[in-house]
Amino acid sequence: MGKMLSKQVIEDIRSRNDITEVIGAYIRLKRAGSAFKALCPFHKEKTPSFQVNPHKQIFHCFGCGKGGDVFSFLMEYEGMSFIEAAKVLAERAGMNIEWEDADSRAAGRTDKNRLYQVHEEVVQFYRERLKSAPAAEPARAYLKDRQLDGEIGDTFQFGYAPDEWDALITWGRKKGFSIELLDELGLVIKSEKGDKTHYYDRFRKRIMIPIRDELGRPIAFTGRVLSADQHGGKYVNSPETILFSKSRALFAVDKARRAIVDERRAIVCEGQIDAIRCHQAGLITVVASQGTALTGQHAHLLKRYADEVVLMLDADKAGEDAALRGAHVLMDAGLSVLIAQLPTGEDPDTMLLNQGKDAFLALVDNAQSVVEFQLNILAAREDLSTEAGVMRAERAVLETIQHAQSALLRDRFVQQVSERLGVRENALRVDLKSQADHRPSTRETQPLPPRQSPATRKTRHPHDELALVELLLAHPGIAPLVETYLTPYDLTDPLCRKMTLLLIEHQDDPGFRLLDHLDAGDQVSNSLITHLEMAPSRVLADEIPPERAAQDLILCLRRNSLERERAHLRSVMQAVEPAEQSELQIRSFELTHQLAALRQGWSAAVPFLENPDRSE
Ligand code: CTP
Ligand code: MN
Repeated sequence: MGKMLSKQVIEDIRSRNDITEVIGAYIRLKRAGSAFKALCPFHKEKTPSFQVNPHKQIFHCFGCGKGGDVFSFLMEYEGMSFIEAAKVLAERAGMNIEWEDADSRAAGRTDKNRLYQVHEEVVQFYRERLKSAPAAEPARAYLKDRQLDGEIGDTFQFGYAPDEWDALITWGRKKGFSIELLDELGLVIKSEKGDKTHYYDRFRKRIMIPIRDELGRPIAFTGRVLSADQHGGKYVNSPETILFSKSRALFAVDKARRAIVDERRAIVCEGQIDAIRCHQAGLITVVASQGTALTGQHAHLLKRYADEVVLMLDADKAGEDAALRGAHVLMDAGLSVLIAQLPTGEDPDTMLLNQGKDAFLALVDNAQSVVEFQLNILAAREDLSTEAGVMRAERAVLETIQHAQSALLRDRFVQQVSERLGVRENALRVDLKSQADHRPSTRETQPLPPRQSPATRKTRHPHDELALVELLLAHPGIAPLVETYLTPYDLTDPLCRKMTLLLIEHQDDPGFRLLDHLDAGDQVSNSLITHLEMAPSRVLADEIPPERAAQDLILCLRRNSLERERAHLRSVMQAVEPAEQSELQIRSFELTHQLAALRQGWSAAVPFLENPDRSE
């Protein structure tokens, strides 16, 4: 059911989207020689290690290892699928793309783009009412009273839903938007009496606040009553639709995203008005969870932009446990979490109005680590002068530490707990380990695999095999040498082997690009390739000619390969009957002989290399 693009179309899209322009629209690129440099948008750093190479049309960060082409940049930065990235880029280049196989599921449904367009018009419909309808006077007065009039209303595009059953429906009819279309957007409510179906406007007599996704597309509304005595809940939200999922959406993320990436830190509060008030005060890294529990999807979205999240906790809510659960979810995604507690009776909105921005910022600056926060709760709930109390507290706080994705963080937490509970760090580590072993599988609660650190990514591929790929990339002329003297078995790493074979196969094609032949969404191969293409070379920096370098590498790789075979033989020999051993013994001698030859250098080794007799 997936949509498909032909290789030719993908190539077209790529060639019409210059990577420096695309990335340059997101982050500030500075020219550095023939390349561009920037602060990496994927991890926090002070000096730029993110590079874009316009000649090769790739990017790579030497800090975190992320890399790829223009498609993978969008996939990584915007969290898009390959198809979504292709669509955006095609649109950007003004191309009409042809799908090889249209998405069959979409048939019969309204195209998403159309839904966004109509939704945007609905935003304007409500907005127009707020601005000019005489009946909206109480709404305007309400906003003024809450100091939400003026510029902030333009920024967030506040509107007003009239106190009528069919204001939107009637407007829609004139615009040619069918009831079914409005229903798909969740803007009307269907009532069935007997065999009669009737529709009416979902939002009536409410301040309308559009909810947008990270790309700024309108996906839902929340509507607030004008007075406490008004019928219905204080807030009414759009239901779940094709565009909107409450467990994924974060209010104001479209406006906060840029600033969050700059700071690598997001502030999460509960209410939309809270987020709006923060933005009004210039605190533009604030998003709102809209009153729901934080989910793995929220965490994943935040993780695209931030390394750290500050949770603003309303003190008037009995939400301590909920905050802790939310923190665990964020930690599972590899985010580091701080918790800021608001004074009793305040939410961020009232706090900013009553006490001002500096007081609010002080709260954020004094935010506690999750473990400190939990220890404070526990201190109030448990009697820490008793052994049983300490044990229960320890168990609870170790459970939190299990969610930390980095050893460094776990270490710091263990230290904090040790000081606070008066338990030795070593004892805590032992308990942490045994608790981890007995923990139920966290797979269900952990929607995302823990991130690989750049360090593990780098060491995964054998150094010599990488060097060979690097050499082949820079000097395709050595391909025949490699083809003649190495076999695929001489390379142990599947990715290096695949790349080597591809480079040999396409040695005569000057336009060949490795990236096009590997999975665009695979960060391991993207990172590796862009690193190889852009890193200051280890192999090439030396003065030796490429052929010599290739010979050295071939010798080295063959030697490793033969040694592996010999080690394997030895273990087999121990397992078989003495009668069978002699044949293996002969092969073993052969290997020893060849290995000795290889150590004497290229000319001594060539006779053996030319005949890689590798009886399997
Ligand atoms: N909420 C909701 N439906 C309700 C009440 C609350 O969806 N009936 C969500 C909203 O996202 C709201 C958040 O929960 O913003 C927090 O609720 P609350 O603290 O009661 O509201 P405030 O955000 O403080 O809104 P206001 O200041 O307008 O009263
Ligand atoms: Mn409030």
